[in-house]
Amino acid sequence: MFKKELIPIVLFSVAAVLIGPVRPSSGFGPGGNASRFFPREKLMEIGVYYYPEHWPESEWDRDLANIASLGFTFVHMAEFSWTFLEPKDGRFDFGWLDRVIALADRRGLKVILGTPTAAPPAWLATAHPEIFLQDGRDQRKEHGIRSNYSTSSPVFRRYAGRIVAEMAKRYGQDTRVWGWQIDNEPGAPFDYGPDAQSRFRDWLKKKYETIEKLNETWGTAFWSVRYDTFAQVRIPNAELAGEDKLNPHAVLDHARFNADEMADFLDMQAAELRKSISPERWITTNYVSAVNDADPRRTSGLDFASFTMYLLRGVAGLGPDGFRLGAPVRLAWANDFFRPLAGATGVMELQPGQINWVRINPQPMPGAVRMWLWHAFAGGCSFACTYRYRHIPYGSEQYHDGIVGLDGVTLSAGGREFKQVIAEMAGLRAKYDHRATLPPSLRSRRSALLWNQENLWDLEEQKQTSQWSTRGHAERYYAALKSCGSPVDIISEKDELSGYAVVIAPAYQLIDAPLVAKWADYADQGGHLILTCRTGQKDRSGRMWSGKFSEPIRRLIGADIAFYDMLFEEGQGRVNLTRARAPFVWNNWADVLEPASGTETLAVYADQFYAGKAAATCRKIGRGTVTYIGVDTDDGRLEREIVRTVYSRAGISVGDLPEGVYIEWRDGFYVAVNYSSAPFDLPLPPGAAILIGDRRLDPADVCVWTEK
Ligand code: GAL
Repeated sequence: MFKKELIPIVLFSVAAVLIGPVRPSSGFGPGGNASRFFPREKLMEIGVYYYPEHWPESEWDRDLANIASLGFTFVHMAEFSWTFLEPKDGRFDFGWLDRVIALADRRGLKVILGTPTAAPPAWLATAHPEIFLQDGRDQRKEHGIRSNYSTSSPVFRRYAGRIVAEMAKRYGQDTRVWGWQIDNEPGAPFDYGPDAQSRFRDWLKKKYETIEKLNETWGTAFWSVRYDTFAQVRIPNAELAGEDKLNPHAVLDHARFNADEMADFLDMQAAELRKSISPERWITTNYVSAVNDADPRRTSGLDFASFTMYLLRGVAGLGPDGFRLGAPVRLAWANDFFRPLAGATGVMELQPGQINWVRINPQPMPGAVRMWLWHAFAGGCSFACTYRYRHIPYGSEQYHDGIVGLDGVTLSAGGREFKQVIAEMAGLRAKYDHRATLPPSLRSRRSALLWNQENLWDLEEQKQTSQWSTRGHAERYYAALKSCGSPVDIISEKDELSGYAVVIAPAYQLIDAPLVAKWADYADQGGHLILTCRTGQKDRSGRMWSGKFSEPIRRLIGADIAFYDMLFEEGQGRVNLTRARAPFVWNNWADVLEPASGTETLAVYADQFYAGKAAATCRKIGRGTVTYIGVDTDDGRLEREIVRTVYSRAGISVGDLPEGVYIEWRDGFYVAVNYSSAPFDLPLPPGAAILIGDRRLDPADVCVWTEK
């Protein structure tokens, strides 16, 4: 535990709040300036996945000609084609790829090349079955699926590195290639095989140096777990733990190792590419989501991170049509998470229509595909690509829509919407004004949400109530910021905070003294910090502080956390804002607060044995404020009210958008989209010039306008 005097409340004299660019903290790219690859005036380029190996060569040119005539500007190829690129161990065949790249080029299409490592060929599987992932019951994956390999396998790494190096030698200087995507949707599945076990032990040795240090940090005195040597340590295995609980510190370290392992595998491939490719070509990967076991911030070899986006993944959405529109937060969050990492992002796969892989796969609402495309644009994507061009009549994804149907030429409903957006985007390019800058009213409300994947890993391991959802909790705050019409960056604690009016750290469980000092500085200099329940409960190893709960933030928030409570599923606790009568309800989590003198109470519990005790507080510090919200509700209404109060007390005017309606500003254009099942009348100022759509924003609709 660190000492309280290590939390300086430094008084800075500089008037630095709300100015200056926000510097990304992650290891992305040489120089971290990925926007150089994407000229602003192109706005968002739109492309499509094409798998030449799935179709007779005689159809390639017809398909590419059609793709180009629809207005797509690039095709994505070669991902999963390892068996065609290296049909036998060490025998490479690039002839077919040469021919299809030439055809694409003739049609004016740029090419994104995927490295094919997510689908190892049968000859490799037969010769080296040890390359496959092993689950918690020692069951090894086998050939016949994809993403079945172990990133810890030195044999797999050797083969993967070789095919990537060969591709890079062949196409590294090829100006027809726009950029590279490594592997496919790196998700970092857990692997309990022997290679992973031994690399985990190496990782631990490097981190702890001595077994005593590991024992101390993991608290292995508990249940007599104590290790004598690193050789005795095994990956914590939930499969074998049954009803019992694993050591949370071991689990946290393993999650870190696992994400590092995936990052290292991606970086290995990036390094192979960089040996041969021109610096004009970019390198990315298509992360499956912003929140999972892979951690995009751990890679250092990519120029930027892109993402895949399937909105209809079995979610109810908002209102009766929500299941056809998608969960509103998903794409918004991905935009705001991936864009700040390296200053640019793109959606590498955007759902083109019906998909085939969730429990129930409904049709999107007419217009929804178009709305998602515009939402990707609004959120800063430099490109949007869709999986896939042709509906395939065979294989595991035969029920999956494409841009064209089973005849290979007729546009699907989603295909027609892509075509429409391509035409609309061309119209917008003609109106692009390179002098456009973020309007002052938006600049003054720019806000950030702090996210560290490690908090997610630790909280999910020790939820304490099955009602707790780390992601749901963070999304409620994110939605609250977006409902204010604020531009939001989801950033790392290492990023510069001073450019943001409001910074929210939701359930930021793992902390240390420098982070608390940074938060204090931010508020002291005029920032408005919002911390929420479970923040600061543990140190970086996942150990609780010896002292009061969340000891290191007590002074910062100006309150003690006396205890925390949670209710059964059907239970509803009431909580009131001190300045409003209508009660709010909660049941997930309640920190019961004891404010120090000088700290204002914003909300109080209205029932339970702690009725009258504080649920949310605020204190002034320097020129800013620190708000602590100790209660987690299901509907996020209370959180939204308090976030709005923070802005209004800071004198920052904000918008008031219903759930599922987003308004973004980008490159001179305002874009509004509506994921809700109800129409919304946009509050456009006089002088707004509508370019696309209408002031009345129907469900699945889009409006684009400019303001003087
Ligand atoms: C993605 C995956 C693609 C394809 C697609 C189907 O998750 O990256 O390769 O399988 O799903 O919707």
